[in-house]
Amino acid sequence: MLWPSLSFYSLVIATSIVQAADPAWNGHTTPGATTPAPFTPYYVPPGARSYDSSSPLIQYSGDWGESFSSGYVQGSVRKTSAVNAYVSFTFTGTGVEWFGNMGAKNGIAEVFLDGKLAQRIDGWNPSPMRQQRLFWAFDLAPTKHTIKIVNSGTHRNQAAGTSMVIDAFVVTDSPADETLLAAPPSPPSQNFAVSSSPPYQDLAASAPSSEQWTLEQTGSTGVHAMQLAVISDTHAIIIDKVEHNPLTISGHPAWGALYNLNTHSVKPLNMQSNSFCAGGTFLGNGTLINVGGNPVVEGITAAADFGDVDGLQAVRIFEPCNSEDVDNCDIYENHSRIRMASPRWYNTVLRISDGSAMIVGGSKKGGWINNGTTNNPTVEYFPPKNIAGINGLPIHLPFLVDTLNSNLFPIAFSLPDGKVFMAANRDAMIYDWQGNVERRLPRIPNGVRVTYPMTGTGLLLPLSAANDYTAEILLCGGSTVDDTMADYQISSQDPASNQCARLVLTDNGIAQGWQVEQMPQARVMPDAVLLPDGKILIVNGGATGISGYGNVKDQIGASNADNPVFTPVLYDPSAPSGQRFSSSGMPTSDIPRLYHSVATLTPSGKVMIAGSNPNLDRSEVAYGTEYRVEWISPPYMSAGRPSFGDGIPKKIGFGQTVKMQVQMPASASDVKVVLMDLGYVTHATHANSRHVTLGTSWSSDEKSSLSVVGPPNGNIYPPGPGWLYLVVDGVPSTGVKVMIGNGDSPPVDREALRNLLAQTQVDQNEHS
Ligand SMILES: *[C@@H]1O[C@H](CO)[C@@H](O)[C@H](O)[C@H]1NC(C)=O
Ligand SMILES: *[C@@H]1O[C@H](CO)[C@@H](O)[C@H](O)[C@H]1NC(C)=O
Ligand SMILES: *[C@@H]1O[C@H](CO)[C@@H](O)[C@H](O)[C@H]1NC(C)=O
Repeated sequence: MLWPSLSFYSLVIATSIVQAADPAWNGHTTPGATTPAPFTPYYVPPGARSYDSSSPLIQYSGDWGESFSSGYVQGSVRKTSAVNAYVSFTFTGTGVEWFGNMGAKNGIAEVFLDGKLAQRIDGWNPSPMRQQRLFWAFDLAPTKHTIKIVNSGTHRNQAAGTSMVIDAFVVTDSPADETLLAAPPSPPSQNFAVSSSPPYQDLAASAPSSEQWTLEQTGSTGVHAMQLAVISDTHAIIIDKVEHNPLTISGHPAWGALYNLNTHSVKPLNMQSNSFCAGGTFLGNGTLINVGGNPVVEGITAAADFGDVDGLQAVRIFEPCNSEDVDNCDIYENHSRIRMASPRWYNTVLRISDGSAMIVGGSKKGGWINNGTTNNPTVEYFPPKNIAGINGLPIHLPFLVDTLNSNLFPIAFSLPDGKVFMAANRDAMIYDWQGNVERRLPRIPNGVRVTYPMTGTGLLLPLSAANDYTAEILLCGGSTVDDTMADYQISSQDPASNQCARLVLTDNGIAQGWQVEQMPQARVMPDAVLLPDGKILIVNGGATGISGYGNVKDQIGASNADNPVFTPVLYDPSAPSGQRFSSSGMPTSDIPRLYHSVATLTPSGKVMIAGSNPNLDRSEVAYGTEYRVEWISPPYMSAGRPSFGDGIPKKIGFGQTVKMQVQMPASASDVKVVLMDLGYVTHATHANSRHVTLGTSWSSDEKSSLSVVGPPNGNIYPPGPGWLYLVVDGVPSTGVKVMIGNGDSPPVDREALRNLLAQTQVDQNEHS
């Protein structure tokens, strides 16, 4: 069902506010308000300032009038229909929003920021709407700015006038607390047992600058970036929870968006259910699914009706969207037809060797740390399968019981033998999903927990024929905090782990056990991003505390973590032990990236960093909700880049040989074609991230054409989309999107699907 108009909301509000059985989240129309009210986009997050249209700091020029109504912010608006009449407002902050009316008589306004035309805003709407967010910018430098809005005197054909209305401006500061940035953070109260170096060493300051890493802040995500996946050469999908995001759709805030990687424009998605803490994956046919979430946002205290439905059993379908024009791309869901058998919050979703999605673990409802009551210790599949006689229903996994409590968002990767690696809490195993058999692995050393809320991150290291497609797992960061302690016994200042541990998944490797090394800085909630050259960029996270918000003692704002780590570190898995970490030439950010931060490789070769929101709802109090995007360019971005010629096929079959035209320097010696899955990133899990070197040979003497062989089978690279990079002497080309396999739907077992729908209830949480 779509949300076509504001009148729908008025209807819902006028009749009744449905009280959810278990509201896990309440939307406040006004902070502190206690009576339910219809949603309006006007919202002043904690820490932001609102300036009413009547403020003496706002200057009006030309012919303006004033109107009064209790439906306006502070009871009044300023209004003009005169051409060239303008309003001007000077403020200090990183963001500004203009709120005003829309209606049948509204025309087109021109918004200037610091003298530059930022956007033309059409205020026309067939029916009148108040307190609308007409313009917003959230990526301004933290200095003084002037917003000037000029009445163009023009209007669209349908409009019956050229009216322009100012109700209020909302100014947001840099979400980072300036005092935290100015002074170096204080060291944690106790040292972590395996730490050999101080966690706060400033690596960047003393580093030689010969290797040109650069960091650039450009763009604003419009919806907070909790989940991120690149969907095409030009776009990424961003999925958030239901909250007061500035980007709106159909009169309510959006919680999903498509982000243009080149122009930085955003398009809101019309999501229906609450996707708070969902997971996602592409299927073998290129369709992206987003799975699980949270109950409806509404309830007991001052609910704003966001129009969302229960997301706990949701399977949201995003069909392939490969063109730069994303106008017709949207998310589809219909829980009576397409859903999971059981509710899941904080589940991991991954693509397995037949192109299906495996959905792992999670909690049956929102909360904080998992426990025996809320645990959903099962896997299920999309499309559903009949395995072990359990016809489409969830399959019990003892591993997910044994790993309580800190076991949400399990780290999972499809292995080159088709089985699945899983790590949760302090344990790991290999799951033979076809036979439903667990093989337990040695415990992660030194008491380090790696999954929510003691969140670390994990990767499957690069695969190639040269290493016989031998699987090796890397786990980094996390925490040794005891997961049986009550929240008030845990502190935001408890040190995170600086441990990375590697395990080779052969009998011999397993017998040798985890090989331990130390990152130069401790991190909880790190993101590890595979680069086309096979190295790994570790970014984001905090040096102390744990994931989540609103739980531990000494919260910073609402954050359970503190001491954001601002400098990335590069990990070279093939370097000799002891020489693998480097922050040489690394830029240092000033944007904290704590809980709900993301990072991904993009087709260009840059790494996109976004998010951070350890808050119930959008907030400007440190650590506030972060909309700014940062781009890290590795040194290869400024090197002479090799490139593919035209005519790369859109689809490459397993073992299929394809000729590719290539351009590269004459001096080229080490030439590789690498197939990458850029992954689906949420809560430091980078599901599906993969780096496979394909077999190549020269098909011409003058080195202009390569014969490239598709991956041997779906175990080595699960069928589905990927990006090809030509890597010459460590310098990659721009990535080219291809479909690996035949592009068909994963197997559909109609009987398992029928049984799932017959045996399980839709949206069980709401009906309980
Ligand atoms: C959802 O699926 C049900 C069952 O197939 C169908 O009756 C209904 O029309 C669908 N709703 C929408 C909005 O597509
Ligand atoms: C389990 O977690 C839920 C959700 O956080 C909580 O309401 C419940 O009290 C917990 N149960 C136990 C036994 O700790
Ligand atoms: C891919 O397969 C899934 C599951 O069968 C299906 O829902 C989806 O529509 C398919 N996508 C395309 C593009 O065919």
